[in-house]
Amino acid sequence: GTPAAKSDVTVNLTVDGIAVAVPYGTSVMRAAAVAGITVPKLCATDHVSAFGSCRLCVVQIDGMRGTPASCTTPVAEGMVVHTQTEDVAKIRKGVMELYISDHPLDCLTCAANGDCELQDMAGAVGLREVRYEPGANHFARRDAEGPNPEYRPKDESNPYFTFDPAKCIVCSRCVRACEEVQGTFALTIEGRGFDSRVSAGMGSDSFLSSDCVSCGACVQVCPTATLIENKVIEIGTPEHVVKTTCAYCGVGCSFDAH
Ligand code: FES
Repeated sequence: GTPAAKSDVTVNLTVDGIAVAVPYGTSVMRAAAVAGITVPKLCATDHVSAFGSCRLCVVQIDGMRGTPASCTTPVAEGMVVHTQTEDVAKIRKGVMELYISDHPLDCLTCAANGDCELQDMAGAVGLREVRYEPGANHFARRDAEGPNPEYRPKDESNPYFTFDPAKCIVCSRCVRACEEVQGTFALTIEGRGFDSRVSAGMGSDSFLSSDCVSCGACVQVCPTATLIENKVIEIGTPEHVVKTTCAYCGVGCSFDAH
């Protein structure tokens, strides 16, 4: 869900009828996880601060109006949270439908097939069909702007990974990982609302000419195939991973053997 809160003060609440006690400052999403409940999400992760942009994690809370995002809502004493109401199920499905309608439908040949959170979430919210043409939103927008209905080209300037804007859902995980994990400010979000996009470098718009140090933090957190290691593009996602311990020295580092 979201990063752990550090506080000695404990807050008691219920999530779907399950009582939990969590540190003050914990997000409702994390409290739900403590109760054993997984709330669908796309923009939140355990490692970077919550952003609240995807709206997939909405819940209902007694006494609170609307459907707040569970990743950015902190717990409060006595809170009664519902994560699985009909209303939130409907909202999540609608949100996913919009994401999918603006996403290339090449899952079967995509390097992230089987390892894509967009795919997982579509399944998790029960999205079986999309009422719009594939890419309908995207192309409608481009038609209004001019005759070129193309997604922005891939950025292949970095030797280790590729950035494909067509698959980006602008969850900002990469931007936050760059800042919070790496302490670099190579990535920004440009524009507003539906036209917002992730951009590398101020004006230069390429990873190689940005402040990127190729740490890979952005690639790690990307929920889709937008930021993907070139190695994965070439050889595909491993079907199974075997943990092996390196025998060269006594440290015992373990690594994935594919
Ligand atoms: Fe909460 Fe995206 S996970 S808004």
